Amino acid sequence: MRLFMKPETFLMASALLCALLGLGYPLSCEVCTGSGPTCSGSVKTCDADQDSCVVIVAETSKKSYRSVNTHKGCIKSSACSTGILSITVGPENYMVSNTHCCQSDGCNHDAVPAPQNNRTENGLQCPTCIAPFKETCSSTKEVLCVGQETHCVAFVGKVQAGIKFATQGCATKNTCHTKPGTLVPSASHTYVISQVNCLPGPQPSDKAK
Ligand SMILES: *[C@@H]1O[C@H](CO)[C@@H](O)[C@H](O)[C@H]1NC(C)=O
Repeated sequence: MRLFMKPETFLMASALLCALLGLGYPLSCEVCTGSGPTCSGSVKTCDADQDSCVVIVAETSKKSYRSVNTHKGCIKSSACSTGILSITVGPENYMVSNTHCCQSDGCNHDAVPAPQNNRTENGLQCPTCIAPFKETCSSTKEVLCVGQETHCVAFVGKVQAGIKFATQGCATKNTCHTKPGTLVPSASHTYVISQVNCLPGPQPSDKAK
């Protein structure tokens, strides 16, 4: 008796089995992380629970070091926050990202437009703080909101190595609905946003009063 099937037969049989069981055949997506408004890498097979491909372009600034970075890869749809996020924690400490998710093999190949980054103060301000290694922080300062940032947020994130941080600042309205697991690439590492809470409305800034 032959114990092994030919590879073609095995592939067909597993595709059929997946179809019968209602499981998607594993998705494959382009995978890369790099500086600039796009990156390119090879196409890789996703983990079984990763049902989307993602492309994220982000402009981040940390202590006035500003950069644009791109990440492409596999992601769970439940962690894909499509569209533009904008969060400001300090005048030179912010992240703005544009995310696109899709569900077919290699569909994240094309670049997405870098988010428009409007840094014009809009007359609102929010409490701000940053606390590494923590899940909450309490604010003693205010940050001036810019562009379309009309909400105050508190969020918990991780740098991809797993180090937690808590922060508060200004954000756009859709940032309140950021899904846990949302990624934001920066120059040094990719941030993972674990939890976002929108706080009661922002106050007119002291400048605007
Ligand atoms: C930038 O943001 C300011 C403040 O919200 C707003 O008045 C202005 O129209 C925005 N500019 C653009 C080009 O969207």
